[in-house]
Amino acid sequence: MVSVIAMDGPVASGKTVVGREVARRLGFRYLDTGLMYRAMGWQAVNKRVPLDDAFALARLVVETEILLAEDGSGRVTVDGQPLGAELEHPDISRSASLVATVPEVRQAMVAQQRVIAAEGRIVMVGRDIGTVVLTDADLKIYITASVRVRARRRWREIQAAGQEMDFEQVLRDTEARDHRDSTRADSPLRAAVDAVTLDTGEMDIEASVQAILELMDERKTGGPEGP
Ligand code: C5P
Repeated sequence: MVSVIAMDGPVASGKTVVGREVARRLGFRYLDTGLMYRAMGWQAVNKRVPLDDAFALARLVVETEILLAEDGSGRVTVDGQPLGAELEHPDISRSASLVATVPEVRQAMVAQQRVIAAEGRIVMVGRDIGTVVLTDADLKIYITASVRVRARRRWREIQAAGQEMDFEQVLRDTEARDHRDSTRADSPLRAAVDAVTLDTGEMDIEASVQAILELMDERKTGGPEGP
């Protein structure tokens, strides 16, 4: 039985929206681990901790309580304070990817994520879920698309949120975040060796969801031809 699904991928690959929908259809819990790093990035800015001070960030993570809903609602609280749209701001995307380079921050997040996953029936989404957090996951998906396609999606999201940003700027930010996420020393973004790669460049959300549900069926029956 497939009970734990790990989904990783770069910025705006579609992993969040696709992962949430897969979880909804299966009646599984859903956890977007990016929100935990965003919450931590927000807390660092809020507490005026310099984003290049790894020592101070390591201390801050110990003092901070981040709680994330497991129902797909994306509800997050930091030390009891509910956060929402502010976590999607481009400045917080940047601070999240900076705090995420600090090993002590990652260790704290990973420990919390493993406790949440232990009960099973979950789709967990992030950058290092298949490679580090849940190496024994029943199904690992690496979801991706070209950087231009992803930057265009991100740009549309920013527009929809009523924020103004030049497309070229979004493209540069996406490239910078990809670079930082995939070259950091601790848990760089990459596909696990046993992950199935899904390129969503030419796929809409429904097609991506269907592809994953089919992979689940194959795992249950022992392969495309059955047992
Ligand atoms: O997925 P999202 O864009 O919300 O993640 C924000 C940042 O958090 C990423 O750019 C990445 O640096 C970091 N992150 C991570 N590991 C995860 C999830 C997110 O390092 N499992």
